Amino acid sequence: MDNVCDVLVIGGGAAGLSLALRLADSHDICLISKGILSEGSTLYAQGGIAAVMDPGDSIDAHVADTINAGAGLCDPLAVQHVAAEGPEAVRWLIDQGVPFTPAETQSAGSTFHLTREGGHSKRRVIHAADATGRAVETTLEQQVRAHPRIRICENHTAVDLVTSTKIGLPGNRCLGAYILERQSRKVRLFSASFVVLATGGASKVYLYTSNPDTSTGDGIAMAWRAGCRVANMEFNQFHPTCLFHPQAKTFLITEAVRGEGGILRLPDGSEFMQRFDARAELAPRDIVARAIDHEMKRLGSDCVYLDISHKPAEFITSHFPNVYASCLEFGYDMTREPLPVVPAAHYTCGGVVTDMHGCTDIEGLYAIGEVAHTGLHGANRMASNSLLECLVFAKSASEHILAQPCRKPKAGALPPWDESRVTNSDEEVVVTHNWQELRRFMWDYVGIVRTSKRLQRAKRRVDLLHLEIDEYYGNFRVTSDLLELRNLVLVSDLIIQSAMQRKESRGLHYTLDYPAPDESHKPHNTVLTPPNYPESESADVTVASGS
Ligand code: FAD
Ligand code: SIN
Repeated sequence: MDNVCDVLVIGGGAAGLSLALRLADSHDICLISKGILSEGSTLYAQGGIAAVMDPGDSIDAHVADTINAGAGLCDPLAVQHVAAEGPEAVRWLIDQGVPFTPAETQSAGSTFHLTREGGHSKRRVIHAADATGRAVETTLEQQVRAHPRIRICENHTAVDLVTSTKIGLPGNRCLGAYILERQSRKVRLFSASFVVLATGGASKVYLYTSNPDTSTGDGIAMAWRAGCRVANMEFNQFHPTCLFHPQAKTFLITEAVRGEGGILRLPDGSEFMQRFDARAELAPRDIVARAIDHEMKRLGSDCVYLDISHKPAEFITSHFPNVYASCLEFGYDMTREPLPVVPAAHYTCGGVVTDMHGCTDIEGLYAIGEVAHTGLHGANRMASNSLLECLVFAKSASEHILAQPCRKPKAGALPPWDESRVTNSDEEVVVTHNWQELRRFMWDYVGIVRTSKRLQRAKRRVDLLHLEIDEYYGNFRVTSDLLELRNLVLVSDLIIQSAMQRKESRGLHYTLDYPAPDESHKPHNTVLTPPNYPESESADVTVASGS
């Protein structure tokens, strides 16, 4: 099959699907996903999408709340762009057929019910009950599958990007990617005029995460290896409330439960959030997750409790039908008792540096959605701003692509994947062992509370894993697990390096050695530059240095 297209989209979540749909009437699209198309964080999103939909709310208020949550590191341009484009992005979804929950009363300011989450000063989160991501993903998936100009390649894992620099051609342009067909285990070249990374985040670097298995930071790693800068990787968000149960390893209890009156309690039933922040349960996530971590460590307890049982049962089951049903399966009736909860890695605030069109440092290469660092989130993402970012930047990147001529590489012009020097692996255990070791020490040493000593320990271990995995990669045929591990090790290293550089506590990065923000100069982003970054012809993508 001819693997040449106009736009190669790597990733089938909210970012990839919406970009594909915005371009498909005029461009031939090839859409790649590691597993089935719908599997990714988008499918599991619960709370909703933040956008100004009520006359009593304003773009300025959305901007102010986002900047406040971002602890001095949001790029005001990015925040303004996303907040201002928010209502259009939501209307676009409504036009696609996403069934958002209607308002409870005719007199409400918005046609749709708006819930409240941490950091938001207003009710601003439009949602489809407590399964917003599923509604968005499945609606967009239907449209994508029906479009004649979108070719879908499921069970395909992107290995690396092909750039002009890498193959000795002039300029610094992305020309395609090598993709592993998981069934045949063959790596094929896909070439395209434009390549879009929409691969999601990297929370799988941590032992406990709310994310599905797809979140292994592949796009960040591929972009770095190709020569793109990454920024703010030390800011990984931990969601405060995942169900604590051995079988419920990734089950999230949406923040909207706190937004609708849920209270956090210690094992003895007492409330504790007021001791940490005047906004209590509705403080931004970094504060709530740290407070829970602190109390669990202080008391030596396995979890704390989230209690909404004081609300009428009917209210709970109608607002949270999926959370209610899932908790019941695990033996907890949230209408009658508090739920045991713990924090887990949830969202990668940093990523590939982009401008306001999703353009990266390499011409023709875009990064949108959780893979990107646009400047929106700063040091801490506000709840429900990420699906919005996916939608807004999908639109901005598609407009940029539409404004340019297609320059498809000729079939056969690029080198095929070379397997001449590798054999099948004889020791898969290296992959499973290193995978577990990595995620354990990232959790223990680079988690919610850090110290310089813990980071140094983590750095020594990640350096060793790097050597082992690079050697293994050089000798054996690639598998999806090996590719993911290779990317996880690289991304962990970028997180550790970034955390070591930040000599202060800010937003999601908290270290006991520097427990306060450094107010002696302007807040700064942590921008890492890869060894092959083309200094002389760097693209004009700039990283704003905070609000
Ligand atoms: P994803 O939806 O993660 O999709 C990534 C895609 O990339 C997948 O198709 C995957 O297969 C593909 N991929 C990855 N690597 C490769 C590769 N090497 N080759 C080929 N394909 C690849 N945000 C909100 O705004 N509101 C919420 O209510 C909310 N709730 C959440 C609840 C949960 C449990 C989780 C986990 C996240 C939640 N988030 C929420 C965050 C939000 O869901 C994500 O940030 C967003 O969905 C990311 O979308 P994306 O398109 O960037 O990536
Ligand atoms: C949630 O529903 O609590 C998740 C919201 C988000 O991650 O934005």
